[in-house]
Amino acid sequence: MNFSKFGNKFAKNSGISELMKDLNEGIRTPGAIMLGGGNPAHIPEMDKYFQDLLAEMCANGQLTDTLCNYDGPQGKDAMLKALAATLKAKLGWDISARNIALTNGSQSAFFYLFNLLAGRFEDGISRKVLFPIAPEYVGYADSGLDEDLFVANKPQIEFLPDGQFKYHVDFNTLEITKDIGVICVSRPTNPTGNVITDEEVLHLDQLAKQHNIPLLIDNAYGVPFPGIIFSEATPFWNENIILCMSLSKLGLPGTRCGIIIGSEDLIDAISNMNGIISLAPGGIGPSIALEMLQRDDLFKLSQNIVGPFYKQRVEEVIKIIRRYIPEDRCLIHKPEGAIFLWLWFKDMPISGLELYRRLKKRGVLMVPGHYFFPGLEEDWQHAHECMRMNYVPEPEKIEQGIQILAQELEKAYQESER
Ligand SMILES: Cc1ncc(COP(=O)(O)O)c(C=O)c1O
Repeated sequence: MNFSKFGNKFAKNSGISELMKDLNEGIRTPGAIMLGGGNPAHIPEMDKYFQDLLAEMCANGQLTDTLCNYDGPQGKDAMLKALAATLKAKLGWDISARNIALTNGSQSAFFYLFNLLAGRFEDGISRKVLFPIAPEYVGYADSGLDEDLFVANKPQIEFLPDGQFKYHVDFNTLEITKDIGVICVSRPTNPTGNVITDEEVLHLDQLAKQHNIPLLIDNAYGVPFPGIIFSEATPFWNENIILCMSLSKLGLPGTRCGIIIGSEDLIDAISNMNGIISLAPGGIGPSIALEMLQRDDLFKLSQNIVGPFYKQRVEEVIKIIRRYIPEDRCLIHKPEGAIFLWLWFKDMPISGLELYRRLKKRGVLMVPGHYFFPGLEEDWQHAHECMRMNYVPEPEKIEQGIQILAQELEKAYQESER
């Protein structure tokens, strides 16, 4: 079929669509060990909470009310008001419902925002999205209407005890040229589990203001919800920060509910885009979130159930990895949040892509690291030595996957010594 330029760009196989296909196939393949995708855990307490809440909402007619009506293009009014009031009361942010818009998942929010703030402008300048610290989320990579929408900066690497390391924003090399339209960072970061420090956020905020561009923070895993953060991190927002949040990692990816918090003029723009692209964002997620806000459960469950679940799981998985793979074969990015471990097979004799293929043949799915450097112009060897694994499957499954990973690594080293 003959597609338009837009069609050719968006209909081709992208990193993210390949990943979603693998995930889909993996979920349906009996015995597969899925360490590849970004599906959040089924936390029993959360599943039970959602079941009970939905049963109540069904019984009292709220669910029918939501299903049978369109919301406005900005999203469910009552939820916007309740969220603004809660953020104001609990975090002291100076916001109202006019600062919040909902989208069908935060993935679509990034599509809106990147193309709103970067690309070709009326003044003839092509502006870009700057990722101040790579690696970054693979889902951003193909979302530009224009080619070459992204630029990225390599991180500083700090080596830590126990075979761990941590990336930092390298402010010595970070250049904010005139053609940068927005600075974007995920915090916690998918794929690494890094949480850039409060100082780094404040420094980026100051640079963004100085250059008269917004700072976009992707808070899909962060605080105050879903709370998958294990280090000290203050949630920040001001008129120059665009904060994106999501209900997905709370355990509700099927609701496709993304939340954008920004200045009023930005929120007006997003509402108008919603109107054109989807009439209105779906209402189920916002209805659930509204109930959770009214019961004061949203922040509490994030802090008391979701965060601790992932913290306990990640600690267990690191112990499993270390039972099979020593530090000199595999360094692990300090897990500070999100649902992934970022493994660095320093000086590995095969590429991450080759390791991915070999693992896939044996029924283990992990994602090769080179996908996670959108916007990085140079081919960086480090990118080919890393892999991302989701640590949420049952520990027994993870252990099987790690055993296979250890065997494949050993095999690769033996081949290289022959
Ligand atoms: C960092 C990050 N941002 C955004 C998203 C998109 O999530 P959703 O569209 O489900 O809100 C994801 C999903 O995995 C993610 O990891």
